[in-house]
Amino acid sequence: METLFIGKNLLFLHDVESTNTYAMNLLRNVNVIEGTVIHTDNQTKGRGQRGALWTSNIGQNIASSIILKPTFLGIDNTFYLSKISALAVYDLLTDILHNSQYDIKIKWPNDILVNQQKIAGILIENNFSNTAIQYSVIGIGLNVNQDTFSEFERLATSLKLISGKAFDRELILNLLCEKLEKWYLKLKQQKTSLIDKQYLNCLFGLNKTMSFKDLNDLYFDGKIIDVSKNGKLRLELSDLSIKEYDIKEIKFLA
Ligand code: BTN
Repeated sequence: METLFIGKNLLFLHDVESTNTYAMNLLRNVNVIEGTVIHTDNQTKGRGQRGALWTSNIGQNIASSIILKPTFLGIDNTFYLSKISALAVYDLLTDILHNSQYDIKIKWPNDILVNQQKIAGILIENNFSNTAIQYSVIGIGLNVNQDTFSEFERLATSLKLISGKAFDRELILNLLCEKLEKWYLKLKQQKTSLIDKQYLNCLFGLNKTMSFKDLNDLYFDGKIIDVSKNGKLRLELSDLSIKEYDIKEIKFLA
C-alpha cells in the first residue's frame, strides 16, 4: 500500500457485527495505532446513520473502519472528518470510473451518489476529551460487486451495476486508504478552505431547490446554499429566509 500510515496495520475479520463497533471497543481497551483499518467480508449488524441498519452481501463490497487520532482538530471542527472522508470516496470513484458519463456527488452530510443513486455511506464515531477529539472511527461502506439490491434499496447502486465490470476489492481498499490519507494530511496542514471548496464543488443539489422533510414529517422546499462550519445544511426557504439544519432535523425526500 502506497501510504504512510493508513492501512499499514490491516485487520481482516471474516465475520463481525460491525467494524465500527469492533473498532470503538478495541480503542476503549487497548492502544491502537493511528491508521489501523478493520475490514470484513460479512457484517452481521452493520450500522448506518440515524440508527439505521447497513446491509451488504457477503464478500462483495467494502465494509471498513479506519481509526484516526485527529487530536489536532478542535471539537468545533469535527465535521471536517465527514468532509475529508466523503472527498476520499469521491476521489476514489473519480479515479476508477474516469468517464464523464458518471455524475459523482456527495449528498450532505456524507453519502456518495453516482448518477443520483447511493453507492457509499459513511458513519463516523468520535471520542472526545474536554477540548479535543481523542480518536475517530471512519466507517465506510462501499458497494462494489453486489448486483442485486432489495426493494428497500431501490436507490442503491454498486460499481459493478454502473460499469458492468467486477472489481478487485483489495485494490479498492488500498486506493481508499491512499485517498483518505491524502485528505487527512491536508486537514492536518490546516488546508481547510481547500477542503471546504472541494466539498461544496461536489455537493449534490448545490444552488438547487430540493424537497425535504422536517422533524414533524412536514414537507418543505429549500435551496441548498452552503454547509456551515459545524456541518449544518444551509437552506434558503421559500420566504427567502436562511435556515440551518442539523442532520437530526431534516431529511431529503428522495
Ligand atoms: C449510512 O449511509 O447510513 C452509513 C453507512 C456506513 C456503513 C459502514 S460499513 C463499515 C462501517 N461499519 C458499520 O457498522 N457501518 C460502517
